[in-house]
Amino acid sequence: MAQISENGRVEICAICEKYADETTPLMMILSDIQKKFGYIPLEAQEIVSEKIGISVAEIYGVVTFYSFFSLKPKGKYIIGCCLGTACYVKGAQQIIDKFSEILGIAPGETTADGMFTIDALRCIGACGIAPAVTINGKVYPKMTVDKVSEVVKEYRSMEGA
Ligand code: FES
Repeated sequence: MAQISENGRVEICAICEKYADETTPLMMILSDIQKKFGYIPLEAQEIVSEKIGISVAEIYGVVTFYSFFSLKPKGKYIIGCCLGTACYVKGAQQIIDKFSEILGIAPGETTADGMFTIDALRCIGACGIAPAVTINGKVYPKMTVDKVSEVVKEYRSMEGA
């Protein structure tokens, strides 16, 4: 697991200071750290704890409660598979299983080369085109199991892999 560099520590302190006047700065601080680093490791939570006087346990609770925060680095491409009801009844489970099989990782995990993360999502508001998959914000409507390997190939070829 990557460690926070000295520069990273300085950046986290600066983020905390930016919200010093807020009464409830925690969510804003964590959002900025997530955006900046792509994840919020324990070490970053310890720095925030020192700076704003909220216990690491409480911060950890917030980070693990909200799915848009991550404890681990995410891949370059984040494959979000909607498992909401409309998508589920149209075969979303088989689709996420196929991504897992092809990439060799479970939902929530990242491939060893750092390229892909699979996330299981709740309804993303695209029920009319269920089952829906998003990759870095691009929506793949009416996804099928057969299209999964094509989509993975498309991203691998963009990387020359
Ligand atoms: S249930 Fe998947 S987009 Fe709504």
